[in-house]
Amino acid sequence: MNYQDIFELESKYNSGGVGRRPVAIVRAKGTRLWDSEGNEYIDCAAAQGWANVGHSHPVVTAAIQAQAESLVASQESSYNDVRARWMQELAQVLNTSLNWSGCHIHPSNSGTEANEAALKLARLLTGRTGLVATRRGFHGRTMGALSLTWNKKYRQPFEPLVPEVTHVPFNNIEAMTEAIGDETAAVIVEIVQGEGGVHPGSTDYFRSLRELCTERGALLIIDEIQTGVGRTGRWLACEYHQLSPDIVTLGKSIGGGLPLGVTAWRTELGRFKPGLHGSTFGGNPLVCAASRAVLQVMSAERLPARAAELGEWLTSELQARPSDQIREVRSLGLMIGVELRGKVTPILEQLMNQGVWALPAGLNVLRLLPPLVIEKGDLEQVIKTIDNVLT
Ligand SMILES: Cc1ncc(COP(=O)(O)O)c(C=O)c1O
Repeated sequence: MNYQDIFELESKYNSGGVGRRPVAIVRAKGTRLWDSEGNEYIDCAAAQGWANVGHSHPVVTAAIQAQAESLVASQESSYNDVRARWMQELAQVLNTSLNWSGCHIHPSNSGTEANEAALKLARLLTGRTGLVATRRGFHGRTMGALSLTWNKKYRQPFEPLVPEVTHVPFNNIEAMTEAIGDETAAVIVEIVQGEGGVHPGSTDYFRSLRELCTERGALLIIDEIQTGVGRTGRWLACEYHQLSPDIVTLGKSIGGGLPLGVTAWRTELGRFKPGLHGSTFGGNPLVCAASRAVLQVMSAERLPARAAELGEWLTSELQARPSDQIREVRSLGLMIGVELRGKVTPILEQLMNQGVWALPAGLNVLRLLPPLVIEKGDLEQVIKTIDNVLT
């Protein structure tokens, strides 16, 4: 099918809820995307952050193929060998990364669902109802997670949402000190605000926030849906601050391209009673097999270390560029935000026309989230293209 046919057919039926570029992506491999007209792009978005190991990584593809032949999905109400192994392997990573002595894991199908489970768990375990989130924070689009997302554009048309949610400025411990009270069940924050413009928080902030939550009996939820799985140069971005949260949420790259959300929490907190939370497809053997392959590739190819190295290099290259159009470059690992003096949309369009697929973060931030397997030569090409477009 050519672009016009695809566009006409899809536009006729789609919900209208998602803004789309005038391109149909029909194939991807590693760090490359191809559209219906045969144009090639360097993927600097990791397909919206879910392709940290690259597209169709052979280890992930083989795991999906093999599992599809034996068992794709099983009843939620039965145990399963692949899920059992996946939980064991993921728990090992999380316990090391977060300094936990053990954890429980609830698998779902998306980032927003991972946060929904975190909210339910926090209310259940604390018996409290209040929630504190941050300005510019993004946590998803289902009703509970949407209540925590800050941008009014996403929230207002659907109000009333979950009550007792307070939004406070990010990286500001005084504001948190005022907001967390006796009725606060949980605080939710990102380590680097992604959709909000690529804003990293400081070690002082996260350490004080940890102390404050412990002191006041509120659970600390860290949303690592975008920052996790090696993106920032560590397995989890919490590691930069030796931060040990109560609950962590993962999504995007943890499923290797298949839909998977993860809510994990410290064993000591307790867990749901049967019937209180579940999901028909959450943790199905197919996605667990894909996720096991992701864990294997992350470790075999040392992708967090690679992200740290390449991210540092790319950031310093971008910071060294004299451009009237760049206000600031912020980053952690291969999560990079280039704040522009003008709007980002026309820049994204020009980059796309020159073969680089990047993302916005707000109105004026160009966000780069390339797959962690990207080669330095490709990043040099990306820089050259950004130079072309900005000058
Ligand atoms: C930090 C963060 N939390 C939650 C979500 C929601 O994830 P999903 O789109 O898989 O529901 C996103 C998506 O961009 C995100 O960046």
